[in-house]
Amino acid sequence: MLDNPLSDSIPLLEALGVCKSYDMPHGVVEVLNNVSLSIYAGERVCIMGPSGAGKSTLLHLLGGLDTPDSGEILVEGQPMTQWGESRRAAFRARKIGIVFQSYHLMSDLNVLENALMPVRALRGWAPPGKADVERAKSHLEQVGLGERFGHRPVELSGGEQQRLAIVRSLMNDPDILLADEPTGNLDADTGKRVLDDLFALSAERQRCLIVVSHDPALAERCERIIQLRGGEAESAV
Ligand SMILES: Nc1ncnc2c1ncn2[C@@H]1O[C@H](COP(=O)(O)OP(=O)(O)O)[C@@H](O)[C@H]1O
Ligand SMILES: [Mg+2]
Repeated sequence: MLDNPLSDSIPLLEALGVCKSYDMPHGVVEVLNNVSLSIYAGERVCIMGPSGAGKSTLLHLLGGLDTPDSGEILVEGQPMTQWGESRRAAFRARKIGIVFQSYHLMSDLNVLENALMPVRALRGWAPPGKADVERAKSHLEQVGLGERFGHRPVELSGGEQQRLAIVRSLMNDPDILLADEPTGNLDADTGKRVLDDLFALSAERQRCLIVVSHDPALAERCERIIQLRGGEAESAV
């Protein structure tokens, strides 16, 4: 069990003996084999490992985007694996922010509309309120997109799109922020700017940050590193 020895409280997120494999035409691909780990509120954890090690798969399981074949994912001690899809969707909408490697922005919506999507999802697709719009604008200004509210994602650079994705991931005020190789497609300088924004915004409310990365500079900014190798997790710190 990969645990934080300093904490005796209930973990915010826990994986217990999690296994996941994919049935492919050429056979079964075993991705995660008995992975157990605990992540506590306010922790910043970096998941590292070679390409194909199952990092994205693990992140998706922790965020309730997918379910394990066996084992449990526990949220504050509650087994998520026993929830139906609608309860998992509600959990994601309220508690989880996700930054995908390839941004996943809506190309038909402008910057401000993209940022407001999670708030609209949370409120049954009602138009966003004034306070939400002001908060989105303020976060966008903070990451240098203050002049870009009406622009489409295609008009932004890669770094700007990722900064917009980070703002969007925080608009539902999540307890847990998951980021999958947030600097993977960016040059070093742009990556540093994105990380500065990611860490500044996620620190706001002692959020838990779980980030997948190969980037040693990013790992250094986390309290804990979890290595995934051969389908198993080991603590590197
Ligand atoms: N939806 C899927 N269907 C089939 N195989 C998948 C799927 N998602 C991931 N895999 C396979 O699982 C393995 C781990 O993938 P992934 O979690 O994306 O690794 P990582 O993020 O560490 O690079 C890879 O071999 C990948 O091809
Ligand atoms: Mg991946």
